[in-house]
Amino acid sequence: MKNTAIFFCSLVLASCASTSTSTRAEADDFDIDEAIEYCNSQVHRSIRNLCTDSTDYSMIPRNIQGTDTMWACRKATPDEWCSGFWPGVLWYDYELTGDTLVREQARRYTGALEYLADRPIFDHDLGFLMLCSYGNGYRITADQRYKEVLLASADSLATLFNPAVGTMLSWPRNVEMFGGHNTIMDNMINLEVLFWASKNGGDHSLYDMAVKHAETTMNNHFRPDGTCFHVAVYDPADGHFIKGVTHQGYSDSSTWARGQAWAVYGYTMVYRETHDKRFLDFACKVTDAYLKRLPDDMVPYWDFDDPAIPEAPRDASAAGVVASALLELQEYVDEDKSEEYRHAAIEMLASLNSDAYRSGEKRCSFLDHSTGHHPAGSEIDASIIYADYYYLEALVRLKKLDEGHGALASL
Ligand code: GLY
Repeated sequence: MKNTAIFFCSLVLASCASTSTSTRAEADDFDIDEAIEYCNSQVHRSIRNLCTDSTDYSMIPRNIQGTDTMWACRKATPDEWCSGFWPGVLWYDYELTGDTLVREQARRYTGALEYLADRPIFDHDLGFLMLCSYGNGYRITADQRYKEVLLASADSLATLFNPAVGTMLSWPRNVEMFGGHNTIMDNMINLEVLFWASKNGGDHSLYDMAVKHAETTMNNHFRPDGTCFHVAVYDPADGHFIKGVTHQGYSDSSTWARGQAWAVYGYTMVYRETHDKRFLDFACKVTDAYLKRLPDDMVPYWDFDDPAIPEAPRDASAAGVVASALLELQEYVDEDKSEEYRHAAIEMLASLNSDAYRSGEKRCSFLDHSTGHHPAGSEIDASIIYADYYYLEALVRLKKLDEGHGALASL
C-alpha cells in the first residue's frame, strides 16, 4: 500500500491551525495505512475464530462485552437489525486488500440474508441489513443476483411508507406504544436503498418516497438548534405531527448521540442523491449542532445531555458514523467548511485509532466503547459490530481521498 496518508493528513491539519484541541498531535500522526492493516489483522483474527468446516453462516457477529475476547453472534432473523454489518465489514476489507479469502467469507455471510428480501417486512432495519451486505456486494462485484435481492428489498421497504404522513413507519410493532405512526431518525439511513433502487431498475416512486420522507423528517423531527428527537410520532390518518420523544436516548429533550449521527449521515446522503441545496444546508446544520457539543477527543458521550457526563459511557459508533459522513460532506461544501469537516473527520479517526478506543490484543473487534441501548441496559461500553462497520467505511473513504479520488469512488 502507498503510504502517503500521513502527508495528506498533515497538510489538511496544517491548514486548520486555528483549531486547538488536545487531540491535535494524534491527528497529525494519523497513519491510515497502519489503521487499515490493524483492521485487516482483526478481520483475519475473527475469521479464524468464526469459520470452520461446519460454520453456520447465519450466525453473525454482533458484540463483544465484558471480559469476552471473541464475537457473540446472533442468528440472522428479520428482527436482528445488525446482521448486515459483518458482511459489510468483510466487503470493505476485501475492497481495501483484494484478499480473496475475505471475499469468500463476505459472499457466504451475505447469502445468509437473502431470504429476508422476499418476506413480509418486519421493520425499516431491512435497509441496514441489505445495504451493508448486498449493497456493498453489488457495488464491488456487480453480481446480478445481489442486484435482484436489493431491488426486492427496496420494494419491501416501500410498503412501510404512509402517504398521509409522508414518512416510513419505522417500527410497526410499536404503534400502540408510541400512540401513532412512529418514524425514528435511524430510518434516514435506509432511504439509500430506495434511492439506489430508483436508479437501478426500480420504480421512480421509490425516489419520491425517499425525498418525501427526508422533507417530512426535516420539518418535524428537529429542534430549532438542529438537534433531533429520536422518535417522531404522527397521526397515521391525517399525518399531523403529534410529538417528538426518545427511545434510546436519555430523555425526550436530550440529544442521543447516535441519533444525531444518523441525521448527519442521512442528510449528507440525501443531498448526494437529490442535489437539492435545502438538504445540503440542513446536513451542515445538523452536523454543526453535533460538532459543537463534542468532548475534546471527538468521541461523544452516548447522549450529549446525560447528567452523568463526564462519567457517562461514550459511543464510538456515533464517532465512526459521523467521521464517514463528514468525509463525504466535505466534498459538497465551500473550501473553509470543507477543511473544517475533513479535519474533524481525521481527528475522530485518529482518536478511534488510539489506544483509548482500539480493541487491540484484548478483543478481535476494531473498537471498544460503543453504547447500544443505554435505557434498556443493553450493550453499554461494548464492542458493537456497526461501530466497526462505519469506522472501516470511513477509512475506505479517506483512503480514496488520499489517492486522489472522490470519497465514494471505486478503488
Ligand atoms: N438503529 C438502532 C440504533 O442505532 O441503535
